[in-house]
Amino acid sequence: MVRIYIDLYPHAFSFIPLRFAVSIGYWDDPYLQHLVRLCKERKAPEINRGKWPFFSPASSRQLRYFARVQGISQLIKAFLRKTECHCQILNLGAGMDTTFWILKDQDLLPSKYFEVDFPLIVTRKVHSIKSRPLLSKPILELHSEDTLQSGKYPPRWCYGHMLDSKRYAIIGADLRDLATLEEKLKKCNMNTQLPTLLVTECVLVYMTPEQSANLIKWAANSFETAMFISYEQVNMDDRFGQIMIENLRRRQCDLAGVEPCKSLESQKERFLSNGWETASAVNMMEVYSRLPRTEVSRYGTLSCPLTQTPVNHAA
Ligand SMILES: C[S@@+](CC[C@H](N)C(=O)[O-])C[C@H]1O[C@@H](n2cnc3c(N)ncnc32)[C@H](O)[C@@H]1O
Repeated sequence: MVRIYIDLYPHAFSFIPLRFAVSIGYWDDPYLQHLVRLCKERKAPEINRGKWPFFSPASSRQLRYFARVQGISQLIKAFLRKTECHCQILNLGAGMDTTFWILKDQDLLPSKYFEVDFPLIVTRKVHSIKSRPLLSKPILELHSEDTLQSGKYPPRWCYGHMLDSKRYAIIGADLRDLATLEEKLKKCNMNTQLPTLLVTECVLVYMTPEQSANLIKWAANSFETAMFISYEQVNMDDRFGQIMIENLRRRQCDLAGVEPCKSLESQKERFLSNGWETASAVNMMEVYSRLPRTEVSRYGTLSCPLTQTPVNHAA
């Protein structure tokens, strides 16, 4: 089963906007500040709480962040409840994602939570985890009693770009090199028999269509029961999408994987033609409209009235 969330804009590897959205209260995430620092000069004056012009690009962007974080979180929790947490989650291209710590707080951890990203990113994240008790304590607590008593990190705690513990592993690997990826995941006790949730948020677009197809196929063939949540762009071949691709190219960020990002249909097709039995795709306005009203009213209070929610360019 594949669930695809669609957005128009790529994030160009930036974790700053999410961090900013947290800092002004769109959702609670006490952990992100320990992984992503907010530079004062990056605080765009346009994204000033309560003062955004309706339909402005800034408010539209915040609406998408809000809908994305809430929507994906709802899906992850639904999977965890359905499997009674007897499952594993693979967050591929996780960056500075904090879902593991948030699930721990909510007593909703899977049997094991895996994150994968490039070794450079993982080294940075592992360093932050090791140096911040708020991040390392939950991992240690979930590890064996022996580890805690010895006062030392277990042997597999960290090798620079890898950290493996009982309930959480972070692995430095290239998602385009599937043999090495699988080997590293298995070393960290990935269990192909367990129901598995794979998550990619703004990741596939950085790979060529062939490379992402291989990853999608690998995921379909590797697990007995699996679901894949993908959050990607659509409408990339319209005028707006083209301008964005050009802007990113000028910033040395080439999006190798825009080809399957044409429409909701093309996004579904990439899964259906690579081993997945069913796929559904919705745009962010749809996601927003399906969110629990309690969450939506929180967003509405912090930005603009719901009747005047900004336009999203997604299909
Ligand atoms: C735009 S960021 C999104 C991060 C995170 N998923 C989120 O939504 O906050 C894309 C991430 O994918 C990772 N990534 C892209 N291509 C990758 C590859 N071939 N192998 C491993 N990680 C990759 C990047 O390093 C980056 O952390």
